[in-house]
Amino acid sequence: PRTQVGIVGAGPAGLFLAEMLRRHGIGSVILEARSREYVEHRVRAGVLEQGTVDAMAELGVDERLRSEGLLHEGFELRFDGEGHRIDMQALCGRAITVYGQQEVVKDLTDAHLAGGGTILFEAGDVALHDFEGDAPSITFTHDGAAHTLACDFIAGCDGFHGVSRPSVPDGVLTVYERVYPFAWLGILAHAEPSSEELIYANHERGFALQSMRSPSVTRLYLQVTPDEQLDDWSDTRIWEELQRRMETRDGSFRLNEGEIFDRGITPMRSFVVEPMQHGRLFLAGDAAHIVPPTGAKGLNVAVSDVQNLSEALVAFYETGERTALDGYSARCLRRIWRVEHFSWFMTSMLHRPHDQDPFEMQLQRSQLRYVTSSHAARESLAENYAGLPRE
Ligand code: FAD
Ligand code: DHB
Repeated sequence: PRTQVGIVGAGPAGLFLAEMLRRHGIGSVILEARSREYVEHRVRAGVLEQGTVDAMAELGVDERLRSEGLLHEGFELRFDGEGHRIDMQALCGRAITVYGQQEVVKDLTDAHLAGGGTILFEAGDVALHDFEGDAPSITFTHDGAAHTLACDFIAGCDGFHGVSRPSVPDGVLTVYERVYPFAWLGILAHAEPSSEELIYANHERGFALQSMRSPSVTRLYLQVTPDEQLDDWSDTRIWEELQRRMETRDGSFRLNEGEIFDRGITPMRSFVVEPMQHGRLFLAGDAAHIVPPTGAKGLNVAVSDVQNLSEALVAFYETGERTALDGYSARCLRRIWRVEHFSWFMTSMLHRPHDQDPFEMQLQRSQLRYVTSSHAARESLAENYAGLPRE
């Protein structure tokens, strides 16, 4: 078979790209290693910036998002047992929407297949060829047979552990990386959220976060060490730890508890490769960069990457103009480094390294007091959290 754009990976980056291209009459085939069932049930991010919501609306896939998504105009930072609201709407005129990543993935998959798009799930042995020349191709197995997909361009949207980035010859990519001494233990529970807005808590025992998925499902996270085993965390221990880290000085706050029906541990890292393109291969989303989850940016920056890529591909197919394609990496990286900084900043401000010295602890508290009391600092926090406009 042959297509215009061969896309590796049916996560948010690959699906948004395929659907944006389809709306412009550009053909693509998505090759996805996992099953549809697996991809649609993988629990991950939950915070959508306005730009991501707008991208869903432009594609006409926002019907469920509009009815089930939860609009949040502010969030809370809690430290020293007290809460401080950051009023995003008042500070920067923008808000965020809480809607699970797997719901975004379901909506895009449904729309893409209904519109005649092709997604090959459970594609095996995916390998990229000849993208340094004019005739790239992708080989893979599907339904027990070997196939070659010829294409004009390859979009590597296969996440951090995919094949696209490692296919680039040695010496081309520069890697920037930081691994943190923390991980997040995340749960979903059948419990009414205890606060209408997200709560990011800095506590001497470590970071905790209250989020949600619906009026009856709470999403909660705890800072743990990267080598922590889920088996060591009974439901009782998880709830006790969450209650302690979320407590307020006046004792008035209690988290609503309920049946835990999903749990997982995610390590935390910052990672960027430059450039995000080589020949006719373009990397997008987690395939090119990772942020620690504290700023809720991973999914959103994956979407802004593929907005840039689809605009560049549309310009190329409509006019033959290559300038936008050539500038793809540089354009993406300006936004990514802002997001990398913000995610690192939020992570550093809110987590407690187990060997934190008293000097660092005082700096952290001072930063938290500043960011919640100075108008200028709150405004800066709000505009980064809500998401800066795309260039
Ligand atoms: P992905 O969603 O990773 O999609 C890549 C796709 O490529 C996958 O479907 C994968 O199966 C497929 N693939 C991989 N290898 C191959 C191959 N060889 N051949 C074919 N297909 C392949 N962000 C937040 O903001 N908040 C969070 O709480 C949060 N939690 C996370 C938890 C985990 C465990 C992970 C991994 C990420 C989390 N993130 C979170 C980050 C966010 O989910 C990602 O930034 C987002 O999924 C990026 O989308 P993507 O499409 O680039 O990559
Ligand atoms: C969620 C995830 C995040 O990384 C974050 O900063 C806020 C909320 C969530 O899964 O709901």
